[in-house]
Amino acid sequence: MTTTPFRLDGRRALVTGGASGIGEQCCRVLTAAGASVIVCDVDAARAEALATELPGASALACDIADEASVAARIAPVPALDILINSAGIGLVGGIEETSLADFHRLFRVNVDGTFLVTRALLPRLVAVRGSIVNIGSVAGLIGVKRRYAYCATKGAIVAMTRQLAVDYPTQIRVNCICPGTVESPFVEGYLEKYHKHEKEETRAQLHARQPIGRMGRPIEIAHMALYLCSAEAEFCNGSVLTIDGGWTAA
Ligand SMILES: NC(=O)c1ccc[n+]([C@@H]2O[C@H](COP(=O)([O-])OP(=O)(O)OC[C@H]3O[C@@H](n4cnc5c(N)ncnc54)[C@H](O)[C@@H]3O)[C@@H](O)[C@H]2O)c1
Repeated sequence: MTTTPFRLDGRRALVTGGASGIGEQCCRVLTAAGASVIVCDVDAARAEALATELPGASALACDIADEASVAARIAPVPALDILINSAGIGLVGGIEETSLADFHRLFRVNVDGTFLVTRALLPRLVAVRGSIVNIGSVAGLIGVKRRYAYCATKGAIVAMTRQLAVDYPTQIRVNCICPGTVESPFVEGYLEKYHKHEKEETRAQLHARQPIGRMGRPIEIAHMALYLCSAEAEFCNGSVLTIDGGWTAA
């Protein structure tokens, strides 16, 4: 008898940043593969709305950058097989444009948040030889113009992935996805904030940044996450996978 690959029946997953973009598509794809998903997000209303739509899902409102909130809301999750760390924020600016407050704000969400959530859930994941998928970025691998703080936080995510794989080589699996530019509310917010009067020209430049000629789609990243947390990826650990339309191949 053959089994269908990439099934997650009976698995329990928590997705941070699960209410939007890549995280939202991860919630949808994992649910379709049979998992029951906890949609974790600082945006309680959107998390609740998505959880209502997805069979077996629940919502968990939490600011992952706040240690007390993570301890109160995420640490009590009783059992878990899969953690997807997708919550993250961006910032445009080279080093001279970057204030210490903004630098810290980015680190608090992207790095401290991933640290706090992963540390809180590690015992549950170790208990079942669970799987962690961190959403990094090509910005963690190469320099991206005027993204000083963002590149620094995503470089940290790559390093944290590899370090964890070394400390827990048989107890868990932990991998990192590094997407190129992905057409999500993250990018829409960036266009609105930094290029309000030249949105379409800037959008065209964002498409062109990928040699393939377009931005990625959140669901394309979610399918890579599904692979990584499925049994078919059993041999994949401590890996950093690009999905960027050829950006980093150039
Ligand atoms: N969109 C891209 O081009 C792109 C490319 C590479 C990597 N990424 C990374 O992918 C991840 C998801 O990005 P996206 O494009 O889906 O963004 P998005 O803005 O659509 O979604 C991010 C979600 O994270 C949540 N969030 C933000 N801060 C939070 C906090 N403190 N606590 C809990 N939740 C919080 C937001 O409410 C939002 O729902 C991020 O880590 C981002 O850096 C995005």
